Amino acid sequence: MSKRKLITAALPYANGPLHIGHLAGVYIPADVYARFQRSQGRDVAFIGGSDEHGIPITIRAKKEGITPQDVVDKYHEILKSSLEELGISFDYYSRTTSKKHSEVSQGFFKKLYDTGKFNEETSEQYYDVQAQEFLADRYIVGTCPNCGQDGAYGDQCEKCGSTLSPRELLNPKSMLSGEVPVLKETKNWYLPLEQYHDFLDQWILQGHKADWKPNVYGQVKSWLDQGLRPRAMTRDLDWGVPVPLDEAKGKVLYVWFDAPIGYISFTQEWAEKTGKNWKDYWQSDSSELVHFIGKDNIVFHCIIFPAMLKAHGDYILPTNVPAFEFLNLENDKISTSRNWAVWAHEYLIDFKDQQDTLRYALLSSAPETKDNNFTWKEFQTKNNSELVGIFGNFINRVAVLIHKYYEGKIPTYSPESSELKEIVKATEEITNFLEHYEFRNALSALMNLARFGNQYLQTNEPWKTIKTDPEKTAQTLFVSSQIAAALAHLCEPFMPFTSKTLMAQFNLEKTLWTDLPSVFLEAGHQIEEPSLLFSKIEDEAIEAQIQKLQNTKSDNTKTNPNAKAMKDEITYDEFVKMDIRTATILEAEKVEKADKLLKFKVDTGIDVRTVVSGVAESFTPEECVGKQVSILLNLAPRKIRGIESQGMLLLTQKPDGKLAFVTPEINVENGMEIN
Ligand code: MF3
Ligand code: ZN
Repeated sequence: MSKRKLITAALPYANGPLHIGHLAGVYIPADVYARFQRSQGRDVAFIGGSDEHGIPITIRAKKEGITPQDVVDKYHEILKSSLEELGISFDYYSRTTSKKHSEVSQGFFKKLYDTGKFNEETSEQYYDVQAQEFLADRYIVGTCPNCGQDGAYGDQCEKCGSTLSPRELLNPKSMLSGEVPVLKETKNWYLPLEQYHDFLDQWILQGHKADWKPNVYGQVKSWLDQGLRPRAMTRDLDWGVPVPLDEAKGKVLYVWFDAPIGYISFTQEWAEKTGKNWKDYWQSDSSELVHFIGKDNIVFHCIIFPAMLKAHGDYILPTNVPAFEFLNLENDKISTSRNWAVWAHEYLIDFKDQQDTLRYALLSSAPETKDNNFTWKEFQTKNNSELVGIFGNFINRVAVLIHKYYEGKIPTYSPESSELKEIVKATEEITNFLEHYEFRNALSALMNLARFGNQYLQTNEPWKTIKTDPEKTAQTLFVSSQIAAALAHLCEPFMPFTSKTLMAQFNLEKTLWTDLPSVFLEAGHQIEEPSLLFSKIEDEAIEAQIQKLQNTKSDNTKTNPNAKAMKDEITYDEFVKMDIRTATILEAEKVEKADKLLKFKVDTGIDVRTVVSGVAESFTPEECVGKQVSILLNLAPRKIRGIESQGMLLLTQKPDGKLAFVTPEINVENGMEIN
């Protein structure tokens, strides 16, 4: 099988950083697949880039008070470096604001236009007269016709979840100017998707029932069953690829038109840089296209983009679209707006050099067929029990013993051990699982080989037989080192950093999986001193992450974003120790050479005492006299500027930063308890 593999990963919107949901559901599986295909000797183009157009970008720009270009420049860099640091091995990672991308997507549009693939349609759209802009659905808010909630968006009500169109909103308002928008006629170009129904039915529903994932197949079927409708491929916006028609001034391509064409334009950019022929990947029967996406992208990659490709006619269609479901975090939906996420760039700081641990943890709970859940506790267990306890432990024991008994040289033994078959078996299993996009099973098969190695050592106890039967020790360590060497190769797609360390440690050459030898390490082969592959993650590190999420949770329930987090809980007994009373200020005067302090005489009902308080910037002495206040009576006296202060007046802060006394609602007697 000498197929070329063109592998794409959904282009992340350059309006925010990546979180573990993106990684588990798109980038890590795509990378495993790309690395695996390379290990098979296939000619791989693994293509990605930032999606820099669309409303999410302009909304973020408005929020931050910067231009859309600023937004994408900032996030493109963050996305790119997170992906790189995590070892996502794109052959090329670009961005949809590149010049080439404009040209290619405009060329694509022009070809469809010239061959009559679009319907021109004039319709009435909401227009903001003051801002002089047609309004994207997200830019219109109003009252939901279904549940009556205010602040529903033109495309969706977030309260009741119903899908809306802007015209259905009651009392619509523009988010740009706050004005009531008017309806204005505008012309746009529509792709009549219904004309592609039969093609899609034949190709996917008839053709791919067996080999596409049920979640993908099911969604496509339900879209086709509902009936397809024309979809506008141009929009009245000012951020995007300009529509290449004279009569379409001020219009841009629909973001879901230009973004997937990014896969094509980026392949072309890559080919130009590397001297490849991009057509070998996009226009050749010997090439297979595979899209890695999350489930919210299925309709775009299985219906709209294929219809575009079909309409164009010069391109291959995807052989598979292995879409993933969603990953939850600590049993709650990941949400950017609620900051309920583990962010890639933060992980990379908090867990430096532990990229493979995250890759491993996310792959082993990858949401392959249904939504899955990530918890920090499980993450810790996976690292400590599986990576440290099984994989790392096995490799370490082998390397240590070979150094201890044989000066780091593989011992002599005849390679006819039945245990070596386990290596072949594991290689076949992993290969087979990965060919079928079964990442979790593939990872289990890898770990099972490490587990087998561990048990094999445990059963044969080479550290005992070295005294009684040195030949047996040689056999055991010969076999074990072959397993270790196999793991070094086989873990590469999943844990590339670990693989690299292992290859160096065992002085191995990178070999295609299809050419893996039956004996990796000949007798006498020198290996290096062992170094630790994985390190234990301590409870404190995990608790810090859980605390971070806890803080996010309490942030989210705040009705006042400026309110400080609650202090540690106290008991009722601790509370009643505080003797808080009503009191009246009898006298007030400035404290010499202390700008902030006032000295008070207060009637507490049980005595008249002196209290010093830092309120001189908020009140004049005259303003204070006669005020009834609250006082903490039994606070141990303190000397402030030589004056003994006997108690503390209770104060709060006004919005202007000035202080205010806490005063009972109506005047009461002095010395009344407050509790
Ligand atoms: N930016 C989109 C998202 O995050 C994905 C775009 S994929 C592409 O959902 F095919 F359109 F490029
Ligand atoms: Zn609603």
